[in-house]
Amino acid sequence: MSSVPGAEELAELEQVAVAAATEAARFVVEERPDRLGVSKTKSTATDVVTVMDQGAQDLLRERLRAARPDDGFLGEEEGGSTTRSGLTWVVDPIDGTVNYLYRIPAYAVSVAAVVGNPRVPGEWTPVAGAVVNPATGELFHARTGGGAWRRLHGEESTSLVAPRPPALDRALAGTGFGYDPRRRRWQAALLLEVLPQVRDIRRIGSAALDICSVATGTLDAYFERGLNPWDMAAAWLVLTEAGGRFTGLAGDPPAEAMVVAAVEPLHTDLERVVRAAAEVVGAE
Ligand code: IPD
Repeated sequence: MSSVPGAEELAELEQVAVAAATEAARFVVEERPDRLGVSKTKSTATDVVTVMDQGAQDLLRERLRAARPDDGFLGEEEGGSTTRSGLTWVVDPIDGTVNYLYRIPAYAVSVAAVVGNPRVPGEWTPVAGAVVNPATGELFHARTGGGAWRRLHGEESTSLVAPRPPALDRALAGTGFGYDPRRRRWQAALLLEVLPQVRDIRRIGSAALDICSVATGTLDAYFERGLNPWDMAAAWLVLTEAGGRFTGLAGDPPAEAMVVAAVEPLHTDLERVVRAAAEVVGAE
């Protein structure tokens, strides 16, 4: 894996991420057509990919290329490029597409600079990133070693330190479901095992915001199977810079197989419960 950039470059990357994500957030709100067109479907008909999704990604790609021409680009929609600098921008133009479609104000633009190869689990790590909720104007941003920051609409950023979590049986845990029915069946079976062991479960609908919510304490924990690098990259850094942990199971890196997000000691307890549940459920 390429090395983490120096302090000056990290600060630049964070600034670029914030500027690009903020502009794309404005775009998805202001340019939203009255009747939102569905441009195509991905894995199944319930995975709604809008014209706005591709438009926001194109905007992000242009802005990032102008600022950092040697970096690669990987987004949820079409049009990636390889890196010459060792850094790649991993973006989700609208994380929480279904919420966006239904005007539920919990969706996000997620922009992260990562080192390594974001297509290979365990071979990449985010070094700077920003997550914006366009509906509320809330912004989260971080860079490696720089702490996590939260900015509410029009205000200065304030330092974000994740609160001490409750015990597992008092913990409010977020999770999510994929678009593929087979995956959903597995996720529902896992939930049957986990639900009796926590305070309650929330399915809010944007992985990036859910993971940032663990940093603010709005959720105590989060787990999900099926996340892509663009769903997790920026929020992963926000949470870890806020003092939380973001891992896979049994020492694995966060990956499609599973992510578990929480502050210790809750992280250890939830990881154990999710790992045991996954063993009970078996193969997908
Ligand atoms: C989805 C959201 C959702 C999560 C899914 C993701 P998308 O991203 O983050 O909360 O449960 O796994 O695919 O498709 O809206 O960008």
